Amino acid sequence: MARPPSRARGLRYSGTVKAVRIGLLGVGTVGAAVAKAIATRGDVLARASRATLVVQRAAVRDPAKERGLSLDRVTTDPLEVVRADDVDVVVELLGGEEPAFGLMKEAIERGKPVVTANKRVVSWHGPELHDLAARKGVELRYEAAVGGGIPLLAPLADDLAANRLLELRAIINGTTNYILTQMAGGSSFQDALARAQKLGYAEADPSDDVDAVDAADKLAILVRIAFGVSCTPKEIFREGVRALDPIDLAYGREMGYALKLLAIARRGEGGIEARVHPAFLPADHPLARVDGARNAVHLLGDLCGPVMFSGLGAGGDATASAVLADLTHVARRLALGDPVEPPRPGHTGLPVLPMDEVRARSYLRLSVDDVPGVFAQITHVLAELGIGLASVIQREPVSGQADVVLMTYAAREAALREAQRRLAALPTTRSVRARIRVEESRT
Ligand SMILES: NC(=O)c1ccc[n+]([C@@H]2O[C@H](COP(=O)([O-])OP(=O)(O)OC[C@H]3O[C@@H](n4cnc5c(N)ncnc54)[C@H](OP(=O)(O)O)[C@@H]3O)[C@@H](O)[C@H]2O)c1
Repeated sequence: MARPPSRARGLRYSGTVKAVRIGLLGVGTVGAAVAKAIATRGDVLARASRATLVVQRAAVRDPAKERGLSLDRVTTDPLEVVRADDVDVVVELLGGEEPAFGLMKEAIERGKPVVTANKRVVSWHGPELHDLAARKGVELRYEAAVGGGIPLLAPLADDLAANRLLELRAIINGTTNYILTQMAGGSSFQDALARAQKLGYAEADPSDDVDAVDAADKLAILVRIAFGVSCTPKEIFREGVRALDPIDLAYGREMGYALKLLAIARRGEGGIEARVHPAFLPADHPLARVDGARNAVHLLGDLCGPVMFSGLGAGGDATASAVLADLTHVARRLALGDPVEPPRPGHTGLPVLPMDEVRARSYLRLSVDDVPGVFAQITHVLAELGIGLASVIQREPVSGQADVVLMTYAAREAALREAQRRLAALPTTRSVRARIRVEESRT
């Protein structure tokens, strides 16, 4: 006869677990979709997990809020849920750094597996949480933290494990991808942002999205898993989309490029590049065709070659799909009595390379006086810094002022930044309107 789950042994027993009891922290967009899926597709989940998933307790801020589902034992105190003896697994879907981080630590300390979608906590505190989980012999899973419903972290960690990953380029923020898609159609940044807010893609305070904070958080998680590099968002160079002008998207299109906010990680000399910034991509690259709020991650492995994952990076149901994948994994292990996988060998010791060392082509747009000698001055500055000029286009002057668009060959970031400074200081330059890095196709 199956024994009931043993709390004293952190549920690691080898009989059949009839029910895996979930403590659900947060019943918002994602939490409600998770609870609804558990209520409506128990058979599918039971087949996948060999257990019955039960939302045993839940925590919210406002218990009176209508959520379209009925839950027992709802409290406003998440700690009460974490500490409850009848909760086997904690699913953290509150968002934000605190109290989420403290609650996850408390759950792990108590020997309870944790499933979360919280990119902020995992990107900044993932290593600490993993160390604690390893010491306590419990699982910590967060498939939903990057790319919403796209299966990404598990394939990277398991299915592509035989590869030496060479590069990863990703569109991992749906809000900015929506904004850039609108700007490619001629909208200003402000109009595109207003539309994104109206459609619920952007928050009232859009800073985390448009300043690339969210994408850098997600890239830190990807870099750790894909390259075995110890990395937090603080090591990631970050530039957002606020300063972009639709004219540059139009010029880029004429030259055969699409503009995307790209999260890029690449194996370089002696380390890994990790950066998030707007980048021109050849229009025939698979990522260039990912429009609207969709997400995609394009990888290059030395065995598998190019692989692309794409889909819905946000939304209650899509994100719940990833949370439930983790939950069924945890529940199956509990049901079958499988041991927790010991931690994998730590990071490779490779550093994240300083941004100054990164080499890329650059697109530059200068507003200059329409006078003789302008080109000579520009080429002199670039030649002094050893930057090759691939092409120059001068647009028709208007009122004695002209736009000059330069495309450089690949050069070090430090040299390009200095070029930007010196070009801005030329007597014939009115302003350097844009500098946008360019990504090659490679695959
Ligand atoms: N939404 C997405 O598409 C998406 C996609 C990927 C990842 N994620 C991640 O998933 C997590 C949840 O996001 P969400 O969009 O579902 O957030 P949300 O809609 O704002 O829901 C948050 C939930 O947590 C509850 N809550 C917040 N602070 C609390 C506290 N101190 N005590 C008790 N309850 C508290 C809220 O209660 P009330 O309902 O009473 O206010 C609400 O139920 C976040 O980490 C987010 O980054 C979301």
